[in-house]
Amino acid sequence: MDGNGRWAQRRGLPRIMGHRQGVLALKPVVKECARLGIEVLTVYAFSTENWTRPKPEVEALMGLLCEFLARETRELQAEGVSIRVIGDVAGLPLSAQAALAEAVAQTRDGSRLILNLALNYGARNELVRAVNRWLQDQPPGVRPVLTEAVLSRYLDTAGLPDPDLLIRSSGEERLSNFLLWQIAYTEIYVTKTLWPDFNPEELRQAIAEYQRRQRRFGGIG
Ligand code: IPE
Ligand code: MG
Repeated sequence: MDGNGRWAQRRGLPRIMGHRQGVLALKPVVKECARLGIEVLTVYAFSTENWTRPKPEVEALMGLLCEFLARETRELQAEGVSIRVIGDVAGLPLSAQAALAEAVAQTRDGSRLILNLALNYGARNELVRAVNRWLQDQPPGVRPVLTEAVLSRYLDTAGLPDPDLLIRSSGEERLSNFLLWQIAYTEIYVTKTLWPDFNPEELRQAIAEYQRRQRRFGGIG
């Protein structure tokens, strides 16, 4: 969900106002995904690299997360949304961990759309945690062999399908350590729209563009 800072700066506002507006942009997009029958929406909310930002900005982002969950979980639950988290959750402030655990538990039965929040998420971090967890599960004294299928089951995204479409807002043409394993064959859509301006209409445009793509998965189509 990139471009919050630029959205604010263009209006002469502090960056944090951009994050606030960015949070407001999320709910209509989540609802549209549910309406369209999309099964999983993963949003990159805070990366393992975002800790390098000024402390007040990091604290504001964590505060906005808790506010969002407190304000929206009930409505999301009513919409059939199931909230999940990927990332190194143990590295988040305890207040955020508690708010997340409650939101996940409260929406556990949602069967329309999984809203997957990537928080303290970095794909490299996820892969290393997965491999270490897998190693711990191996009996001592053997030389185990890891396979793609087994590694996938140790990732934070275990059980979820690989994404079909990756939408990158604010015009940046890079992956920024997002789901590197899972997006091997994902279609990428870059829009110049800054995240706070992203809306259901833009989502439908991205999906229409996706529908025009021919996916070959390395074959010949
Ligand atoms: C939001 O956008 C991304 C988050 C870490 C929440 P940015 O804060 O990266 O916005 P820009 O890139 O400065 O415009
Ligand atoms: Mg950015």
